[in-house]
Amino acid sequence: MCGIVAYIGPRPAYPILIKGLHRLEYRGYDSAGIALQNGRLNIYKKKGKVSDLEEYAAQQDTSGNVGIGHTRWATHGKPDDINAHPHASGNGRLVLVHNGIIENYAVLKNALINHSHAFQSETDTEVLVHLIEEIQERGQLSLEDAVQQALTQVQGAYAIVVMDRNDPDLLVAARKSSPLVIGIGEDEFLIASDATPIVEHTKQVVYLDDEEVAVVRRNAPLRIRDLRNQEKDPIVQEIELEIEQLEKGGYPHFMLKEIFEQPSTIAECMRGRMNAEEGWVRLGGMEEYKKRMINAQRMIILGCGTSWHAGMIGEYLFEDLARLPVEVEYASEFRYRNPVVRESDIVLAISQSGETADTLAALQLAKEYGALTYGIVNVVGSSIARATDSGSYIHVGPEIGVASTKAFTGQVTMLGMMALILGYERGYLGKSQYQRLVQELALVPKKVEQLLYQCHDQVKYIAGEFKNAANALYLGRGYNFPIALEGALKLKEISYVHAEGYPAAEMKHGPIALIDENMPVFVIATNGSTHDKIVSNIQEVKSRGGIVTAVVTEGDELIKGMADYVIEIPATEEPFTPLLSVVPLQLLAYYIAVMRGCNVDQPRNLAKSVTVE
Ligand code: G6P
Repeated sequence: MCGIVAYIGPRPAYPILIKGLHRLEYRGYDSAGIALQNGRLNIYKKKGKVSDLEEYAAQQDTSGNVGIGHTRWATHGKPDDINAHPHASGNGRLVLVHNGIIENYAVLKNALINHSHAFQSETDTEVLVHLIEEIQERGQLSLEDAVQQALTQVQGAYAIVVMDRNDPDLLVAARKSSPLVIGIGEDEFLIASDATPIVEHTKQVVYLDDEEVAVVRRNAPLRIRDLRNQEKDPIVQEIELEIEQLEKGGYPHFMLKEIFEQPSTIAECMRGRMNAEEGWVRLGGMEEYKKRMINAQRMIILGCGTSWHAGMIGEYLFEDLARLPVEVEYASEFRYRNPVVRESDIVLAISQSGETADTLAALQLAKEYGALTYGIVNVVGSSIARATDSGSYIHVGPEIGVASTKAFTGQVTMLGMMALILGYERGYLGKSQYQRLVQELALVPKKVEQLLYQCHDQVKYIAGEFKNAANALYLGRGYNFPIALEGALKLKEISYVHAEGYPAAEMKHGPIALIDENMPVFVIATNGSTHDKIVSNIQEVKSRGGIVTAVVTEGDELIKGMADYVIEIPATEEPFTPLLSVVPLQLLAYYIAVMRGCNVDQPRNLAKSVTVE
């Protein structure tokens, strides 16, 4: 979490930095700051959103063509003007922005206090800038040497950019476990946590690797070296990001735009990988490892948040279609549990951002055990994409709303394609069944489109009915159980309504005690193997006064006669139902949040990219 941006070149830095911070605001938005050089070093910091900083900076001198900026998600120290970044060194010469956590900051801080350093903030970041200053002063070192030496003493995660008042033509950047991208423009450089602040200025980028230090000097080629002082050749890549993908395109919020993009993003995820007419699926990432994947004894799926929910659907898909035993793990629990991982396991890491610290660390642990690691990631070039043996991008474009929507359906689509391949290759799906499922999956984008337009107004109406609810219960079975969890998570995240997702049958073992006329119950009750069972569960809720909204397959007269509200979705094969049944729940959470006056795209306390453990 936290977003970093920096600029050095011939143009005024401030407009570039502030726009960059707006683009990075999804990474954290409790305070923001900027430092600019124009002969003097000016630092402006404000608690609140980037727009609060912008308002404040409008009254200040924002000239200068070199600068660094930061938008924060607090870890050490509350969100306020003082704890906001950039942080300056004791002599005021160095300023630094940081994303990550310096785990041994307390030890370092005590040592620095013994060397007469005084600290203004409660942050770990301020310790790092003082440490660099101490090393620089003591050894009379260049900034890059001082940064390099300081980082060898640091435990934890960092992406940093440092600026020196005495050398306004230089920025020094470094990373370990937090992302950093360097854009190379004409006579100028941009540095940022991801490519979104860079893309409108240049498409040529270098992704910094762990423990690399970049020396970014005005009118000089980019230099990179590692912490052992080995020079590295920068590998310049072209980013495939278009500026329109970063705009709201007429929608009031990114989340609504992203929900409505799903027909095209699901299709994009399948493009070139599936042919409905010829009836095949192929994933480039699986080709090289196909034999090992076909012969795997077990699959372990790692993820956090919504990506973990996608992983749960993966469990149903791989077991149902490919008879492959699956365990789905919260990455954070897996890594600290002394897990049993074998070389014959496939470990799937699912992550939209490709930067989630727990998922990355769990994946690295699985690699140490010798398992084959495979990434299902959205952000191209991200840490998880690079750390896995192989993988497939979901290609849904930048997801900016903090609550994940189109990335979820992209992940489920990818899992569906993988399960079809493994089901067929492992001999559990006959050719005709395989081809029928391929054809059905190919129809999903059209069905999502039809569903969006058909259910939109109705879901909005239902949202109005429940906008004041204090609690909500989501129930589902089979493939729709993870959708119940995801529906509840969406509501919690953006509308701050307490919601629980439960397997419908488990309701009898606890949550049924909560049901009365004030408890909205959302039941995902589409056609399939558990339909009869869930009909009974709806009866159980109704007979206790619960208000039932059911998501059903078109034409389900039975449930229509029982539920208070019914949302119909197009029919599909049971394994692909989640791709449709989740859509009305995304819209429901969105409209309830809007009606409650919540900030949908930037819900309180959350961040999109969780780069701390
Ligand atoms: C955060 C986001 C969620 C996301 C989760 C995992 O909590 O707010 O939307 O599902 O992180 O992120 P990842 O990038 O690994 O999918």
